[in-house]
Amino acid sequence: MPIYHKQGNIPPKRHTQFRRPDGELYSEQLFGTIGFDGMSSLLYHHNRPTMVKEIVKSTDMAPKIALEKHIRSLKLVSFNVEPKDDFLEAREPLLVNNDVHIGVAAPRKSITDYFYKNADADEMLFIHKGTGTLRTIFGNIPFEYGDYLIIPRGVIYQIDFDSEDNRIFYAESFTPIYTPKRYRNWFGQLLEHSPYCERDYKLPQDLETFTDLEDHFIKVKKQGTLHEMIYEGHPFDVVGWDGYNYPYGFSIHNFEPITGRIHQPPPVHQTFETSAFVICSFVPRLYDYHPKSIPAPYNHSNIDSDEVLYYVDGDFMSRNGVAPGNISLHPAGIPHGPHPGAVERSIGQKGSGELAVMIDTFRPLMVTENALKLDDGDYYRSWLNS
Ligand SMILES: [Fe+2]
Repeated sequence: MPIYHKQGNIPPKRHTQFRRPDGELYSEQLFGTIGFDGMSSLLYHHNRPTMVKEIVKSTDMAPKIALEKHIRSLKLVSFNVEPKDDFLEAREPLLVNNDVHIGVAAPRKSITDYFYKNADADEMLFIHKGTGTLRTIFGNIPFEYGDYLIIPRGVIYQIDFDSEDNRIFYAESFTPIYTPKRYRNWFGQLLEHSPYCERDYKLPQDLETFTDLEDHFIKVKKQGTLHEMIYEGHPFDVVGWDGYNYPYGFSIHNFEPITGRIHQPPPVHQTFETSAFVICSFVPRLYDYHPKSIPAPYNHSNIDSDEVLYYVDGDFMSRNGVAPGNISLHPAGIPHGPHPGAVERSIGQKGSGELAVMIDTFRPLMVTENALKLDDGDYYRSWLNS
């Protein structure tokens, strides 16, 4: 997050005495995710952030792999996932490798009786249905339909939903999720050709500070295991912070599409990047305007990446028979392209109302047992003439 941001009260000089009203020192914490080298923030806690009291239990959360090696295109009907009350239990990892776990969740209830920290992965939560507030140690981020929430690993948070009808498409990334480097100048500012700018970010606000020393329950995910711990003191005891490493939101509806006279390649839709995959946004846009243009994409050989598409809304022009909440996997090794009839159908069309999120991974994805339960079984044959 190359924007400097701050909340609450901080001392004028870092690493100097900063005292509570009762004369005790606040506890300073440097919060970064790449040693002392990457982006970081400095937080000031009312109490020490280190007061582990007890580790209650540890539960294996590793995805159950059904297909380690495969080459079949899949269509997963993710809205068939049953809603569950708990935010973490509701998560269903579907397509995974050592770089990223991609899944969906339909949580019904807000987190109220514990706090959560993912120590393994940055999280991208894409809100398909539901509104609420992401409550974090850095402040609160209200969210709604179409929001990406980017949560760097290590951020302690809760999530409040306004209703029980929530659908989330998520990615847990084992390397940091950044805005694409080619959108930024050498100081980090987003350039004029970027499809979004700094004003579009939803930054943490309304920092909440609780100073009690009661026992509080934190669930920490580390090495694929959920450790349930009791801390002395409230996790949200930060009186102020500043820096560059913090959670933020960005609405897909603020992604400004890049169009041209002829078909533009998928990188124009890129929204986020990591060293192991990219996240792209397909948003409503005008079609190509060359008099002989073909708006449907050409077939392409994704020999070096697996392509995951999560269909959000609208009519997806290159696909037949996809609905909101469907996920397609086009694995590396076989070319993919428009469905029969889609190329001719696209000619002469003026625009698309499609809304979708794409994740292209640079290493193959494995298919989980959860995913096979959502598989329509026949998608891989949908390019045949009959
Ligand atoms: Fe593709």
